[in-house]
Amino acid sequence: MCGIVARIGESDDATDELLVGLDNLEYRGYDSAGIAVQNGCDVDVRKRAGDIDDLRNALSTDSPSGSIGIGHTRWSTHGPPTDANAHPHTDCSGRIAIVHNGIIENNGELRRTLRREGHVFESDTDTEVVPHLIESAVADGAPPMEAFRTAIDRIDGSYAVAAVIGGREGVYAARNDSPLVIGSGDSTQYLASDVPAFLEFTDRVTYLEDGDVVRVTPTGFTVTDGHAQSVHRRTETVDWDPQDTGKGGYDHYMLKEINEQPIALGRSVRGRVDSLAEEVELDGFPPGTFDGIERVHLVAMGTSYHAAMYTESLLARRGVPARAFMASEYAMAPPPEENGTLVLAISQSGETADTIAAVRAARAERTTVVTNVVGSSLTRECDDTLLVRAGPEIGVAATKSFSSQVATLSVLCERIRRDVVGTPSADAESFLSALTELPDHVQQVVDGSSAEEIADSFVDSDAYFFIGRGPGHAVALEGALKFKEITYEHAEGFTAAELKHGPLALVTENTPVFSVFNGRDGDTETLGNVKEIRARGGPVVAVASEDAPDLEGDVDHVLPVPATHPDLVGVLANVQLQLVAYHAAKHRGRSIDKPRNLAKSVTV
Ligand code: M6R
Repeated sequence: MCGIVARIGESDDATDELLVGLDNLEYRGYDSAGIAVQNGCDVDVRKRAGDIDDLRNALSTDSPSGSIGIGHTRWSTHGPPTDANAHPHTDCSGRIAIVHNGIIENNGELRRTLRREGHVFESDTDTEVVPHLIESAVADGAPPMEAFRTAIDRIDGSYAVAAVIGGREGVYAARNDSPLVIGSGDSTQYLASDVPAFLEFTDRVTYLEDGDVVRVTPTGFTVTDGHAQSVHRRTETVDWDPQDTGKGGYDHYMLKEINEQPIALGRSVRGRVDSLAEEVELDGFPPGTFDGIERVHLVAMGTSYHAAMYTESLLARRGVPARAFMASEYAMAPPPEENGTLVLAISQSGETADTIAAVRAARAERTTVVTNVVGSSLTRECDDTLLVRAGPEIGVAATKSFSSQVATLSVLCERIRRDVVGTPSADAESFLSALTELPDHVQQVVDGSSAEEIADSFVDSDAYFFIGRGPGHAVALEGALKFKEITYEHAEGFTAAELKHGPLALVTENTPVFSVFNGRDGDTETLGNVKEIRARGGPVVAVASEDAPDLEGDVDHVLPVPATHPDLVGVLANVQLQLVAYHAAKHRGRSIDKPRNLAKSVTV
């Protein structure tokens, strides 16, 4: 999705810091980039289709000088990725420049009105109406802040907008349904769609809320809400390390983030479980939090949906009725209101539009978000927040966030079970103990994986299938998603039992099947399915716990994972499948961290 960054300082470093910010927003996905730097009464706009490096090269000999500016990475929605459609967009005078993330729904009608007033448009974008609306209000005599708010009041839709106006100190910005966060340094302020944009300059962040309009100057900012009343928004310190947003010597963010999973899992679990005492301690979720809850609806998209499916299995095994929903479907047709429904929203970014819509549509007694991002939109939409503490995830393909979501949700499942059923689950001690060992077990998988050789041996296949049962089904779907999104090959996940009800017709000697064994009941049946695949010539790679049945002679390859509690084997199996997808994509020379057509945060 589009990314916004603004730098409001006193030294003439705006261009350099805006380019750093754009680099740090690259992970969101984009097809063009640009900046606008204030230069006295003028505004210097540079933009182009293509990479940020193309923009950087174009600026290398003639770079705008100034202390205040805005920048943007565009992910096309209205009009193709061209220089003209790249942001920033300006008014007729060229002195008002705008960057925007989101969709302006009444853009057609506003464009017609503005054209009748004599405004001239140069792009296909919905965004371009905004600088002209400001220009129009200024022409009517409004001071800049009032003109900016007048323009914002006239647009419908989702937006995060930032503007610079020639001759006026500061940046004007507003948000509605699109994220926007201020970063505060000593004499320099930043504004961005996401914290990594400015994390190497400051860790003090203030999230804006829907309806907020803000003016940011080098020394601070003033916020007014949707009713134009002054409001205070809380400033927090994020505990992310700026190093976490670099590649740290790895070829790709994805590989770095796969390798970071032991650390991330340690953060998710540490201080939250005491296996000996069979206790869980979740800040903000004391015993009794879920008294009165009778069922859990899990809403999420993509990888987070697979974490939701995984959790559905864990809750069901703990005697708690639970159901995972694609958030987009839930939003369109939420189940009828029933007392005792807990909606658990799961989202790495906390900004996914479909998941926000599901929470808004929910008829629930309580809503809780499990997210990786402090202060994100879903933390404000839900009654309470549980952080997964995975650290910043830059690769578009979600990796460490999935493992950390499942680990965090595993702890939460135990809390819910105790409140709903009244007792710890029967195997609480071994489950909690396995959770504390999870970081070490993941480290063993990462260190000893032969995923690269296996990925290389199946490079010419027609399609790639993934099967599993229970949590292993969620892992199979996640394995297929990861594989397809970064290799661009056809990959599909199924429940193991589903194969012979149709998909088995697709199985040939050119369709490797990755089969997840959980190390528990059901593995015998999965082995039966594997035999059916092999009888049709399909090669099988088992991703199996050391506790799985003897697979000797029944599969072509094994990607082993350490023996652990069966509820957590899936997390380890998923790490093997992440590595398979990574190496398969690398072998094909794909754009692993920024796969085509995809964006990290799907905010529209
Ligand atoms: O930020 P979220 O977890 O809400 O994002 C949901 C999906 O867009 C996301 O999980 C997506 O499927 C992954 N990037 C795929 O690897």
